[in-house]
Amino acid sequence: MQNDLVTQIRQKVDIVDIIGERIPLINRGKNYFCVCPFHDDSNPSMSISREKQIYTCFSCHATGNVYTFLENYEHLSFKETLKYLGDRVGIDVGNIGSTHKNTKYDKFYEAYRLASKYYQNNLASEKGKEARKYLSKRKIDEKIIKEFEIGLSLSENNLTTLLTKKDYTLLELNKIGLSNENRDIYHDRIMFPLQDITGKTVAFSGRIYKNDNQNKYLNTKETEIFKKGNILYHYHIAKEEARNQKSIIIMEGFMDVIRTSTIGIRNTIALMGTALTHEQIVLIKRLSPNIILCLDGDTPGKEATLKAGEAFLKEQIEVKVVTLPNDDDPDTFILKEGEERFKALIENAIYFNNYKIKALKQKVSLASDKEKAAYIDEVLEQLSKIDDIIRIEITLKSLAKEFDIGYNTLEIRFKEKKTKKNKPTSFINASTSKKKTKYIKAAETLIYYMISQEWVLTKVKREHLIFPEEKYRITINEIFYYYEKYGKIEIADFYTYAQDKKEVKEVLDDLLQEEYENDVNSLLIKDLFEAIHENSRNLEIKRLKNKVLEELDPLEQAKIAEQIRKLRIGD
Ligand code: CTP
Ligand code: MN
Repeated sequence: MQNDLVTQIRQKVDIVDIIGERIPLINRGKNYFCVCPFHDDSNPSMSISREKQIYTCFSCHATGNVYTFLENYEHLSFKETLKYLGDRVGIDVGNIGSTHKNTKYDKFYEAYRLASKYYQNNLASEKGKEARKYLSKRKIDEKIIKEFEIGLSLSENNLTTLLTKKDYTLLELNKIGLSNENRDIYHDRIMFPLQDITGKTVAFSGRIYKNDNQNKYLNTKETEIFKKGNILYHYHIAKEEARNQKSIIIMEGFMDVIRTSTIGIRNTIALMGTALTHEQIVLIKRLSPNIILCLDGDTPGKEATLKAGEAFLKEQIEVKVVTLPNDDDPDTFILKEGEERFKALIENAIYFNNYKIKALKQKVSLASDKEKAAYIDEVLEQLSKIDDIIRIEITLKSLAKEFDIGYNTLEIRFKEKKTKKNKPTSFINASTSKKKTKYIKAAETLIYYMISQEWVLTKVKREHLIFPEEKYRITINEIFYYYEKYGKIEIADFYTYAQDKKEVKEVLDDLLQEEYENDVNSLLIKDLFEAIHENSRNLEIKRLKNKVLEELDPLEQAKIAEQIRKLRIGD
């Protein structure tokens, strides 16, 4: 790999921009913080340093530079990342990117691309007349058909025939859910391609349009490239839009997403009939902290809203909720009531806890005192999960008024609940989970300064230091080697260089978890040297002591003892 190019590109991009485009950032002092996308995070535990061009999660210890971030976050190979960043800063990375021999799934993705083209052609053809009429009756015009790549499957088995001619075996086509034996899976359905989070088509959902006595939707079975629980309809588009709109709206069906797109709302995703999985929550959290549930207005929709809201609460996120009237879904509501009224509903979404309190009240009949007490208790329980003191006060006041109870009584009960719940957060104790000896700390600190300040590197070179542990010694050697070869060194670049060097990577990952003072002076460096020397003296003493025990000759024993004495006084 041309390291020059890698360095050049890295120096032209700012890691804060790259991460900030994907995850909301909070600025605190000289660092930025965000919810870590690499573990199940609820507090912002990832810090990003503009100065070092490094990110670090103090909770799961994920760390790295802009390349490793994109590789892990976007699931790209190193070459793809390089190409992506190169394009961005206008540096041609040559044909590096075109050696895109990506994954073993490329052939599957290609089959889906071809299938989607085939279905789209059908819809546009003479045979698609009736389907086009159905779509137009549902107010889905040419433009939407194109945008969402809507297609049509026919009564024949042409897709299987087409793909077997193109070097796909029946076994493969069966495996990826496009054929069953030698027959097509889909017949006479309007075809909606489903994309994974990167935007590649990996499945279809086919809707009936003339034959009413079949399942309304038929979906592709789970395959190696299509895992229902990891997919959200429209995610790849919503990713960008959520950033612009600063919110993300969750709906039930893809028809809802398609409809809202026609009125210019595109920060939307659809669950497609599945219960929200943990993986999906993680994916959604990445897009925006501002999450709005806009599920169907019918009873199943209401139940799904309660379930989804709870699932988010468990991950310390309070979503907002839109309630649609009657049995409407966003699609039917917009068609009936129009764009403006739908937008007003979104504007007026209420917090999930308020939604839940309302829902609770509708459910219980508040006839007896016992029921009233149980209801109040439940409301307080809900309330204890939120942190907004103003909302808490408003709710307590209205409860007090409604049930004619003293505000203070309610507050006392509320506080009891709240204290039970408050457990210590892992915010502080997470970072120094492993206790390091003073020598290990010295070694790490010194290595950190070597790769951030050249003069330290030169000084270390002149001093004969024996670092504790093999991995530090290997790292030091690699630093010297790197510096000699490239004439300069920066942490973020050295980090890329270290990716295939196990020990060096381990050392860097570890030491980047710590905070270091910026203005380092030679006094501090001298202290660090002293610590390293002291450590190697201690090790040597230990070694000599063992030697004494094995030595039989008294004269030799005396000699070793003298050596030990000298080491002890630091001679
Ligand atoms: N769904 C499904 N199989 C079904 C019904 C629904 O997979 N038999 C999924 C689909 O992904 C659909 C979502 O659940 O997008 C929501 O279902 P529903 O509300 O019934 O669909 P609508 O969006 O209302 O579809 P339409 O307006 O075409 O009836
Ligand atoms: Mn509908």
